[in-house]
Amino acid sequence: MTSNFENKNILIGISGGIAAYKIADLTSRLIKLGANIKVVMTDNATKFIHPLTFESLSGNQVYHDTFQRTDRWDIEHIALAKWADLFLIAPATANVIGKAAGGIADDLLSTTILATEAKTIFAPAMNTVMYQKPVVQDNINKLKGMGYIFISPGKGRLACGDWGEGKLADLDTVIHYMENQLCPDRDMEGLRVLVTAGPTYEPIDPVRFISNRSSGKMGYAIAEECIQRGAKVDLVTGPTNLSPPAGACIYNIKTAEEMYETVLELYEKANLVFKTAAVADYRVKEVASNKIKKGQGPMTLELVRNPDILLELGQRKVEQILVGFAAETEELEENALTKLQDKNLDFIVGNDVSTGESGFQSDSNQGILYSRDGGSTHIPLMNKREFAHRIIHEIIKQL
Ligand code: PMT
Repeated sequence: MTSNFENKNILIGISGGIAAYKIADLTSRLIKLGANIKVVMTDNATKFIHPLTFESLSGNQVYHDTFQRTDRWDIEHIALAKWADLFLIAPATANVIGKAAGGIADDLLSTTILATEAKTIFAPAMNTVMYQKPVVQDNINKLKGMGYIFISPGKGRLACGDWGEGKLADLDTVIHYMENQLCPDRDMEGLRVLVTAGPTYEPIDPVRFISNRSSGKMGYAIAEECIQRGAKVDLVTGPTNLSPPAGACIYNIKTAEEMYETVLELYEKANLVFKTAAVADYRVKEVASNKIKKGQGPMTLELVRNPDILLELGQRKVEQILVGFAAETEELEENALTKLQDKNLDFIVGNDVSTGESGFQSDSNQGILYSRDGGSTHIPLMNKREFAHRIIHEIIKQL
């Protein structure tokens, strides 16, 4: 049986992290799948694992020693950049991510990243604190916005002894991402998809607002997956710290009422709607025009209901396929199915947010996709991009 890796040229860039040893196994698996593998290592990576390992596994010379190859260096990085059908950087350290985000090319790996036009995937692995540092997250977001693909690291015990986010994603996930880039599903070509993401901000006065903890990650992952599958995407987004997915038409909104107006304008042309946003159900009745001064006693705010956008979409539905989300901490099935029914949806993702590992703000998610015909698909904990892939795959299959 032929695999999607058969005769594909895969360039693997290894930077200096302990997870470098796992790339030997990855190389071996990709070779068995029929890929041609070439490896570029940073000097630090060669201290974690010897290049001979990759030369033996791949049958090709390993590229790393820029200083001894000064006369051929330019040729090498351009030749490698052109040779690759796909470029994977794993493990990707904070350093190599920072260099790529800043356009710095000071060794063979960073120069090849800059020189290649091949689809490039980063699989970061580093200490949790480093991974979560705003500067690293900003660099990742910047690169994502330029079309680079990131595989979120897993959680667990790290080599430094800490527990948390930062382990190299498991190799099955890495292979899945690579396969998806080599042979992307283009089953959404011709479709126009409307995605909502993030929170809404409901103002109290000029400096305060009511909101929730939605980061926008889930909605942005859905938008990215739809774009990759060939759809035209309108992304209506509340305030987030994320870079917009490359190729999406972005509509920035703040309040639920603004989201309502924008979504209804776009709805007629949409074939498929993913209502991922966490919309505030209430807003303050009278927004103060000046900053409210604190008094001595308690304070009361009168709240009024916001429009239920999805309910309205369900009532106006002509041929659109409506996918809702329900973030639940208990009675997931019952609550999700009630929303599916009440809002006249075709699908709903019952999003289990009972643990900190999924739902709001986290990089991963888990839940159950329910369809109006009574079907359900359990989707275990996985990163949000993968989760988006799974629900969209399932929906397209059922349609
Ligand atoms: O943004 P992240 O940090 O990645 O987190 C993702 C998420 C947890 C926010 C997302 O996966 C999710 O579950 N979104 C739904 C949040 C929710 O609880 O919605 P709800 O149960 O209040 O509403 C159900 C559905 O109706 C949702 O599709 C919602 O967008 C929609 N709705 C709700 C209220 C309202 N006024 N208008 C709406 O359209």
